[in-house]
Amino acid sequence: MKILIIGTGYVGLVSGSCLAEMGHHVVCLDINKEKIRKLNEGVIPIYEPGLEELVKRNVKAQRLVFSTDYAASVASAKVCFICVDTPVSPAGHANMSYVEAVAESIAEHMEDYKIIVNKSTVPVGSCDTVAKIIQKKLKARGVSIPFDVVSNPEFLKEGNAVNDFMKPDRVIIGTNNPEVASVMKEIYDPFMLSNDRLILMDPYSAEMAKYAANAMLATRISFMNELAGLCELVGADINKIRKAIGADKRIGPHFLYPGPGFGGSCFPKDIRALRAHAESLDYKMELLSAVESVNVRQKNVLGEKIFAHFGSDLTDKVVAVLGLAFKPDTDDMREAPSLVLIPQLLLAGAKIRVFDPAAMENAKQLLPKTSQITWCENELHAVEGVDALVLITEWKQFRSLDFTELAAKMKGRVFFDGRNQYHAEEMAKHGIDYISIGVSRK
Ligand SMILES: NC(=O)c1ccc[n+]([C@@H]2O[C@H](COP(=O)([O-])OP(=O)(O)OC[C@H]3O[C@@H](n4cnc5c(N)ncnc54)[C@H](O)[C@@H]3O)[C@@H](O)[C@H]2O)c1
Repeated sequence: MKILIIGTGYVGLVSGSCLAEMGHHVVCLDINKEKIRKLNEGVIPIYEPGLEELVKRNVKAQRLVFSTDYAASVASAKVCFICVDTPVSPAGHANMSYVEAVAESIAEHMEDYKIIVNKSTVPVGSCDTVAKIIQKKLKARGVSIPFDVVSNPEFLKEGNAVNDFMKPDRVIIGTNNPEVASVMKEIYDPFMLSNDRLILMDPYSAEMAKYAANAMLATRISFMNELAGLCELVGADINKIRKAIGADKRIGPHFLYPGPGFGGSCFPKDIRALRAHAESLDYKMELLSAVESVNVRQKNVLGEKIFAHFGSDLTDKVVAVLGLAFKPDTDDMREAPSLVLIPQLLLAGAKIRVFDPAAMENAKQLLPKTSQITWCENELHAVEGVDALVLITEWKQFRSLDFTELAAKMKGRVFFDGRNQYHAEEMAKHGIDYISIGVSRK
């Protein structure tokens, strides 16, 4: 099938490459000319495991091309996936302006029947919005061309995106039109050979399903973070609580890890957008407000622990920070906890030595440009002469650090583990004072 992907970011590039891998002919379009120029030169703009090989293989096989040309790209495709960003507006709503611009552009260039697929995360009712924009534009052009709009929210996780797209837990298709459903089924059939995970529903429910999934996951994280704070006060250990409740089949073990608060391009904006949408209908989502405020508080927890240990003046302190991205295996810095902690430490006068395996370039654009920050080459370089070590992102390579080697390079002996990757007893053997999340030190 000939498919057009509009918006070649995390979702668009992964979806386009995976669809091409399964034999579809895919054009990935973007208004960012520089991005498309680089992709055409073989430069992959994001870090995502397995993506580079996938892109290169499918470009070589001529199933995947990159373009900025709306007219030609729309003309060549039967199905157009909208994969543009839907950032949060100042009032908390999903900013739909990019999706609306895409709808306009499709309508401006379409000459025959199209299926338009909303893959961006959009508020309930956006299928109708897109349809209205297209209809209006077609009318203004004085033409009548049939089209359908389908909701197909994306559930991939950055850091495991290719795998998630190739082996989805489920594919949600929101349409009331059986013919459109069968085209969507044809597109996704190659991904369903071993197990049919396609779930068909109406567009409103499909749009809501995406927000519901992210809101549920964010709720689990905030719940554990809130409980972690109490564990520290009452002498309990959140790691043991996590195991105890995760063993309950009704609860399950996933997304029960306490940490420095959730970030990324999805959870924070999606819970805000869902709440704002509800508020616009005079419906208060109390739980989501709490999930967000717990998360805002949690992003300060590592800083509070550091200040409790050293005092509020860090002018003579050097701190190593391992991990900057909002989670491992990505270079995505959107709403990363490191963006809260590092400015706090800088303001208190600390010198910071940072290292992240993939997100350094993106982090440089977002963190203050100051000589207080040293951008390091690896973890050993980062800990040279530091008073303290802070782990923010649990990259695999940070999960089994050689503390004999590290401690020999450190000046001080304190380790703030924002991801509970290690154990106090083990650290004590290296003479390291170990401070984690949700574990009482009484
Ligand atoms: N990143 C994720 O993990 C993830 C997962 C599931 C769903 N989503 C949702 O998918 C959508 C896209 O997210 P993303 O992270 O891929 O965004 P992104 O910012 O990485 O990419 C969006 C791309 O769209 C392009 N774009 C913007 N306006 C355009 C236009 N008018 N025409 C063509 N291209 C245009 C941008 O230049 C950019 O390259 C969002 O709604 C997001 O919430 C994201």
